[in-house]
Amino acid sequence: MLRTVTCGELNKGFVGKGETLTGWVDTRRDHGNLIFVDLRDRYGVTQVVFNTQMSADMHKKAESLRSEFVVRVKGKVQARPAGTVNAKIPTGEIELVAEEIEILNTCQPLPFELEEKSVGEELRLEYRFLDLRRREMVENLTFRHRVLKLVHEYLDKQGFIEVETPYLTKSTPEGARDFLVPARLNPGTFYALPQSPQLFKQILMVSGYDRYYQIARCFRDEDLRKDRQPEHTQIDLEMSFIGEEDIMGVVEGMIAHVFKHAKKIDIKLPLRRMSYQEAMDKYGCDKPDLRYGMEIKNLTPVFEKSGFRVFDETIANGGEIRGLCLTPPAGVEFSRKDFDDLTKWLQQDYGAKGLAWFKVTGPAQAESPIQKFFDAARIQKIIETAGAKTGDIIFIVADKFKTAVIALGALRCSFAEKYKMIPEGKFELLWVVDFPLFEWNEEEKRCDACHHPFTSPKPEDVPLLDKEPLKARARAYDLIINGTETGGGSIRIHDQAVQSKIFQLLNFTPEQAEAQFGFLLKALTFGAPPHGGLAIGVDRLITLLMNRESIREVIAFPKTQKGTCLMTDAPSPATERQLKELNLDAKKMWLHHPKKA
Ligand code: AMO
Ligand code: AMP
Repeated sequence: MLRTVTCGELNKGFVGKGETLTGWVDTRRDHGNLIFVDLRDRYGVTQVVFNTQMSADMHKKAESLRSEFVVRVKGKVQARPAGTVNAKIPTGEIELVAEEIEILNTCQPLPFELEEKSVGEELRLEYRFLDLRRREMVENLTFRHRVLKLVHEYLDKQGFIEVETPYLTKSTPEGARDFLVPARLNPGTFYALPQSPQLFKQILMVSGYDRYYQIARCFRDEDLRKDRQPEHTQIDLEMSFIGEEDIMGVVEGMIAHVFKHAKKIDIKLPLRRMSYQEAMDKYGCDKPDLRYGMEIKNLTPVFEKSGFRVFDETIANGGEIRGLCLTPPAGVEFSRKDFDDLTKWLQQDYGAKGLAWFKVTGPAQAESPIQKFFDAARIQKIIETAGAKTGDIIFIVADKFKTAVIALGALRCSFAEKYKMIPEGKFELLWVVDFPLFEWNEEEKRCDACHHPFTSPKPEDVPLLDKEPLKARARAYDLIINGTETGGGSIRIHDQAVQSKIFQLLNFTPEQAEAQFGFLLKALTFGAPPHGGLAIGVDRLITLLMNRESIREVIAFPKTQKGTCLMTDAPSPATERQLKELNLDAKKMWLHHPKKA
């Protein structure tokens, strides 16, 4: 090694010793006789002092140092003079008095100051090699490594083995578009990058590897959001001869192990289980954030035959009246415009028909544009059922059940964020279970799998498949942390007849099913054990644990919201020759390409 210690290692115990450091020049302060340089590597920062009178050569070199030059310094450790100790960093009590310096490399003027907060993300991503030098990025990636190490350790102890599955493969149905890779050796055909190792891990179960896991990359061509990347990493696992509780038990044990050793937080097990129905009912979403209250209340019975046409008609048509009670923070007043803006937002983004509100002004008293329709007794009933007190505002949506609760759920989240109602440093974990097996695809007039087509229905709901498939529940479970879907999985179908029935409901012809997943279906007929599994989104998990804004902060080389890598400039056009080799028509490819090769 060119160094004897790292920049994060020296402390008072080293005083008087000769040591050699290597690192990047973080800052340089020129005091004439003395030049102070903070030398940085991923372990920390150490102050180096150059006495410019020591030698002409050293003076010259120390003066020439600029930000991010790479240097090697040999010197003696001394205690910092009283009054100059920096208690904030582990090396703050000492400094290295330079005796020799070697400039290992220079650095161009920086496009931005590394730790400057106001620098835009685009510039950071373009110069990711510099951005990754930031303390926070080092912390993120180191933490990520530690978590994955804990996961390997835990699963190994539980008897799991890691098996790698292919990246050049066939389409896997996880609900996104596939990334396709043209296959040169087989003109006109394509590999699909896996959306997950789902089919392979099920095959591994058929082969008897009853506890599989893999830290797997998954590729999904979908519209990107804050917590989505076109390639993300999963802790993917599968087990045989188990039920839901076995998988949830292993996974929550793993998560608790990670929280304990990476965050020093004890998670109480077993985690809470909440049905999908309850989650929708109380929080208007299937990934409720339980760090704060504000549950949605059912006000339908309160408005029964109230005489207010909109509500009466909603109820008569099988809809519901749902409400949410907000205690506005001191000093926050809602104007007419605020209510109108919220109404517009819920109408436009969530398809809600309208939004009503009641400002509670006292017992049985409220201010509302629709207050005249209700007598004092009913208003008191509304206040009680909503759990409101004087000063609170009750927001009400009358609509189809799902529309009403989803709109109020969105309102709930936005209030919590806007009014800072989310306690810092708190983690709320739960399992959401009993998902519906299907959801209705209005456009295509057919059922879609809520999870994926291999998810088993609850045995008691199998008879529903024929008559009321939308009522059938799945043996599926999602792990929710602070309102983020962090993991999801299910018990799979291992019965050929049930699998065929599901394909039929999903409008797959037997030929289509055969063409897409024939290999899995075949394998399932060769002694498939009962099995199930789950996958945790690593990027999301680390983002949550590190309390970061976006998953891009915990990925070394992430893509933008447009799916581009600003550092490498991927994706980029292919050359004519490459396309020809792939038997692709260059002219047609380029027709739509804005950049043109
Ligand atoms: P699912 O599709 O629910 O399940 O994915 C599992 C977890 O992966 C994370 N995730 C993502 N993270 C970042 N960017 C994305 N685009 C992205 N998509 C998903 C989420 C999610 O909970 N094969 C099944 C698992 C199984 O059934 O065993 C699967 O992939 O945190
Ligand atoms: P309108 O008759 O459509 O002008 O509605 C009068 C008031 O009724 C609106 O200002 C809302 O407060 C309320 N309202 C109308 N439709 C709904 C609805 N679907 N849900 C909740 N409130 C509604």
